[in-house]
Amino acid sequence: MFDNYIVVTGTRPEIIKMAPVIRRLMAGGLRVHFVHTGQHYDYLLSKQMLKDLQLPKPYRSFVLRSNSPAAQIGEIMSKLERPFRQIAKKSILLIQGDTNSVVSAALTGVKVGIPIAHVEAGLRSYDWRMPEEHNRRMVDHISDILFAPTETSRVNLEMEKVHGEIFVTGNTIIDAVREHLPIAMKKSKVMNNIRFKEYVLVTIHRAENVDSPRILGEILEGLIRSNVPLVIPIHPRTQERLRANNYSNKLASKNIQILSPQGYLDFLVLLKNSRFVVTDSGGIQEEATSPSLLKRVFVIRDSTERPEAVASGIVKLLSISRKHISSSIHLEWHSDQPKRISIRKSPYGAGYASDKIMRILLRKNEINKKI
Ligand code: UD1
Ligand code: UDP
Repeated sequence: MFDNYIVVTGTRPEIIKMAPVIRRLMAGGLRVHFVHTGQHYDYLLSKQMLKDLQLPKPYRSFVLRSNSPAAQIGEIMSKLERPFRQIAKKSILLIQGDTNSVVSAALTGVKVGIPIAHVEAGLRSYDWRMPEEHNRRMVDHISDILFAPTETSRVNLEMEKVHGEIFVTGNTIIDAVREHLPIAMKKSKVMNNIRFKEYVLVTIHRAENVDSPRILGEILEGLIRSNVPLVIPIHPRTQERLRANNYSNKLASKNIQILSPQGYLDFLVLLKNSRFVVTDSGGIQEEATSPSLLKRVFVIRDSTERPEAVASGIVKLLSISRKHISSSIHLEWHSDQPKRISIRKSPYGAGYASDKIMRILLRKNEINKKI
């Protein structure tokens, strides 16, 4: 039986996707121990997100000193061990996704003897260059409960013979959009600052896209040459690489508006008002399938762990080639008959994944009580 629900987040998307779960657990009167590892520490990627998603201040958060992946994972593990041990008895650990914080929390949990529930289990890109692919595979194999968003992710887990129990729940990002878009449309004033009447929303931050100057240069050229209005909230990793490679001035164009990372409510409004999206983000591929958004998404990547979004006609992959990127954006912008998206339901659920997760956890607790 679990008395304590330890929820660990580390980055912007984890806060967004865990928010509906945390709120359900708290509304159910359960004892939630919310920890933020501090992997994302900038106000706009952490505190602003907590505020926009109506979450309480974490009861523990850390200031991390290391910046290489292995050192970061080691540091988070050593910082989590003590608080985990203090409440290990009758606890369950809930984590979401595939970041370094997630793998650190899971490894600490398994060593301390806390059962692990992994939200968004079973995604696979089969691209071994991606740190996220290493992380999600490790975490899935040491989790006791796997909340797979779709049937495809369930099959991935079954094929790999994971030891935990699998439940298909939908993705909590759809809950977040369902709950926050109406608030965002009322509250956000972000459109007052946007220079264009119509625009393409762009986000790029994946390590394999921005860490190589050659690849980053190719993507930037593709975006610039598309010659259409672009609104680009810049992720700190990308900001750093633009600066390090002297690329910032490449984006100085009357067709391009650069923004700092946006709060969740403002970002939802930017998404809602965009013509379409160009990104390498995982979460945005899912969000765009929400019936209240339904935006076409060009994903600058060779593969995606979200094949459901491709099958639904929302996501199209673009290879890392300036020509392919610029011509695809240009064509979509100028198309007289933009490809219609005709899905009624998101492949990631109707926005009640967190309710399902809560019910499964409560049912498990009832069963454990009886044993
Ligand atoms: C991380 C996740 C990625 C996720 C992304 C969400 C891993 C391996 N990567 O990538 O899966 O898609 O978060 O946005 O866990 N930085 C700041 N301020 C911050 C955070 C980071 O300036 O608040 C800068 C630092 O220079 C840091 C770099 O960005 O070295 C990269 O940050 P890191 O958290 O390691 O990875 P992300 O690229 O953010
Ligand atoms: N997002 C945001 N502000 C931004 C860019 C993205 O709130 O400036 C949100 C977006 O709506 C989505 C999530 O952040 O829910 C995606 O996070 P990110 O792209 O950083 O990571 P990924 O999903 O690729 O792991």
